[in-house]
Amino acid sequence: MKTRVKLLIKNIEELATLTASGFRALRNAAIAIDDGDFVGIGPTSMIMERYSSDKIIDASGHSVVPGFVDPHTHLVYAGCRHRELVMRLQGKSYADILKEGGGIMDTVRKTRSATENDLYQEALSRLKTMIMNGTTTLEIKSGYGLDYETETKMLKVIQRLKHDTPLDIVSTCLAAHVVPQEYRERRDEYVKRVLEWLPKFKSLSDFVDVFMDVGAFDADETTEILSHARNLGYGIKLHADELANTGGAKLAAKFSAISADHLTHTDIDGFMALKNAGTVPVVLPATSFFLKSEKHANVRKMLELGLPVALATDHNPGTSPTYSMVFVMQLAVFMLGMSPEEALTSATLNAATALGLQSRVGSIELNKKADLVILDAHSFVHLFYELASPIIKTVIKEGKVIYTRN
Ligand code: NIG
Ligand code: FE
Repeated sequence: MKTRVKLLIKNIEELATLTASGFRALRNAAIAIDDGDFVGIGPTSMIMERYSSDKIIDASGHSVVPGFVDPHTHLVYAGCRHRELVMRLQGKSYADILKEGGGIMDTVRKTRSATENDLYQEALSRLKTMIMNGTTTLEIKSGYGLDYETETKMLKVIQRLKHDTPLDIVSTCLAAHVVPQEYRERRDEYVKRVLEWLPKFKSLSDFVDVFMDVGAFDADETTEILSHARNLGYGIKLHADELANTGGAKLAAKFSAISADHLTHTDIDGFMALKNAGTVPVVLPATSFFLKSEKHANVRKMLELGLPVALATDHNPGTSPTYSMVFVMQLAVFMLGMSPEEALTSATLNAATALGLQSRVGSIELNKKADLVILDAHSFVHLFYELASPIIKTVIKEGKVIYTRN
């Protein structure tokens, strides 16, 4: 007697499974999915002998990889900043634009004046584009409100997206993104406001993040905010060493943060601190690419030290308007020197670890959520070979097809 399951995918030319013990590509494989989970993985002949289903996808000639996990995004915001891009292309720096009240503050003004519904619709449409690009799990931060009302509005939008879409969404409070203009001369008062808001945001966010950098928050301010967050039971994330090495990685390690993100300017001491603390380094190559940064995160050194490097889009209107984890993986390979296997692991299993979700998502393993991408290619290496080309054929989340390209 065969066991009936909800969905079978057979004749997969190459199946990329990743486990804690490493990367493995199976030939002519099949997958059985039931109740939203992987229940059978193996050679097509074996799986088809054991299972039957009303729904069978024939993946002949296709490669299957885990659904992508994007562990760092700022998806909820109003408007765009294409004029700022033109200014930067003419030579103006990101930091100067921010100092003059543009940049993040420009998006803050637009986000404050948008209704919750407008913000929701804009974010939902971006999320759909992410799904088309193979993302099945993501993190979303607040941080374009910088006042109680708007931060609440953003966090509520994240909750609505969590509720209304099939994706796994993790919510992070980034009220400490920058000090808003109205508090520029009394920074300590803004820090106090953030401390007051954190208990109230507990039901709306899983993590607290701070942008610790030049022009944003310094080590003392960051320490004050993270101490309070930790006491309230929040998980900790940190924007660390993006524009300069301000000791962000070390501070993230001190707080046993789940992840330290950016790390463009982090040195070996910082990497060692992350390693000892078990903090996942999240690298955002699209951001340093889009900022035309001369420096990129030293991923080879991180990997040499045995750190479980994760990749993310950092999707936001100022420094990384991409929706595509495939593009991010391509940059990681061609710009940062990762191998295709390393990049795929970083965009799936390690990215899930950066969100604390590695026991349920991030790899094609038994009893994990059946999140996967069928590629329009016979090998996962085509993710890197077919530069800037549509390669996503079908996206499946918890066993349901959520996107397919005809
Ligand atoms: O991750 N670094 C801080 N925040 C974003 C940029 C936000 C913006 O420019 O709107 C980032 O790069
Ligand atoms: Fe960011």
